[in-house]
Amino acid sequence: MVLSKTASESDVSVHSTFASRYVRSSLPRFKMQENSIPKEAAYQIINDELMLDGNPRLNLASFVTTWMEPECDKLMMAAINKNYVDMDEYPVTTELQNRCVNMIAHLFNAPLGESETAIGVGTVGSSEAIMLAGLAFKRRWQNKRRAEGKPIDKPNIVTGANVQVCWEKFARYFEVELKEVKLREGYYVMDPAKAVEMVDENTICVAAILGSTLNGEFEDVKLLNDLLEEKNKETGWDTPIHVDAASGGFIAPFLYPELEWDFRLPLVKSINVSGHKYGLVYAGIGWVIWRSKEDLPEELIFHINYLGADQPTFTLNFSKGSSQVIAQYYQLIRLGFEGYRNIMENCRENAMVLKEGLEETGRFNIVSKDDGVPLVAFSLKDNTRHDEFEVSDYLRRFGWIVPAYTMPPDAQHVTVLRVVIREDFSRTLAERLVLDIQKVLHELDALPSKLTANFSVKCELKKADCNGAVVVKKTALETQREITTAWKKFVMQRKTNGVC
Ligand SMILES: Cc1ncc(COP(=O)(O)O)c(C=O)c1O
Repeated sequence: MVLSKTASESDVSVHSTFASRYVRSSLPRFKMQENSIPKEAAYQIINDELMLDGNPRLNLASFVTTWMEPECDKLMMAAINKNYVDMDEYPVTTELQNRCVNMIAHLFNAPLGESETAIGVGTVGSSEAIMLAGLAFKRRWQNKRRAEGKPIDKPNIVTGANVQVCWEKFARYFEVELKEVKLREGYYVMDPAKAVEMVDENTICVAAILGSTLNGEFEDVKLLNDLLEEKNKETGWDTPIHVDAASGGFIAPFLYPELEWDFRLPLVKSINVSGHKYGLVYAGIGWVIWRSKEDLPEELIFHINYLGADQPTFTLNFSKGSSQVIAQYYQLIRLGFEGYRNIMENCRENAMVLKEGLEETGRFNIVSKDDGVPLVAFSLKDNTRHDEFEVSDYLRRFGWIVPAYTMPPDAQHVTVLRVVIREDFSRTLAERLVLDIQKVLHELDALPSKLTANFSVKCELKKADCNGAVVVKKTALETQREITTAWKKFVMQRKTNGVC
């Protein structure tokens, strides 16, 4: 119980060590209370309440890093009071960000000369990075169209329907029409040929995903580049490509170095990556890199001088913490290419352990690919009695957080469960998860179907309402049909949004 009023006015700040021993009445939940409380009490109250959160290490829903080395935690804590934007005051932190931008640009094969520095910026995550990249495309397209005397009121962007919600945000916030290539059962990424068909003179860019949020699959950026080059040649347009490598940007260079998805492809003008996903840093860091200076219109860059010297900035927000930038630099120099490769290989192997364990149950279809982001997305072969949402709910009881969601149009009838394999998800945990999934399946098998149960309860209620005058009798077929319809409705109500 949360209590707030101190027992004695005199000794509160000296003796209070545990909130419930020194406070007596509830803290208002949504209003600031009148009096102060001892720091120990505040700590204890918050700490106690937070115990009810899930365990981040068992949160298999998220790509975002949940473990770092203690040395890096130390560096992050030491920098917690540094505002990143005070670049003149913290020049070393700024220098570390610049080194990160350059290292990542080289990793993505940016065409940089020996003495050339990369064009890019650190952000709060891939979402901010995508907003910035999208704005640069929109402005470039507007500038070109204006110079040609053409209208600029209908910009659009072509993506797959599997894009993460940040692309929908970009489209809505910055008034760009989102043209989505629909998915289909068994094909859950953007089809490059269909994407290129949808390109018109108002398309500011085509966005491809390296590591789809829904099943981890890499889209075929090379094929997209080749088809788009042909279309550009035919039409005289110069529609570019952005690669959303939020997850895959720190995987492909280490596991699939031969795969051409980055600046090796001429139409790829910008790439975003989440430092806090497979960049292996805690939440709060992303990166966007441009191919060259020409791809980032100068008028989007603000120059400020009230913090000291001239500082160019291109971000959506001003102040932010420095710790994540420092942590990214730590990971890059601590691990090097070898370290990242080892970790990614390990993640891939653990994903295989999980995948094979699930296959052995004979109860699941695997929806993810072996190549791509190390995750396993899977759906029940038979979900007529119990569905993936129930499996997810039951796994919670063992502490596992495994999301279930429906695919976007036109594959919305497919429901999947997804387990993201991060560095801190060991082989032992993978094996343990398989055992717990088996237990859940046995438990569910022993239960009546949720919908059958609901349905019979409803029938019973109907009988009771009518004082037994009407007896609801249905054939087995009618019952089955009703169950299927109700189930479909239930599944359709579940949204994919929120999967991150
Ligand atoms: C493909 C993709 N793009 C963008 C994002 C948004 O990333 P962030 O959480 O870094 O803003 C995600 C998040 O999962 C993602 O999977």
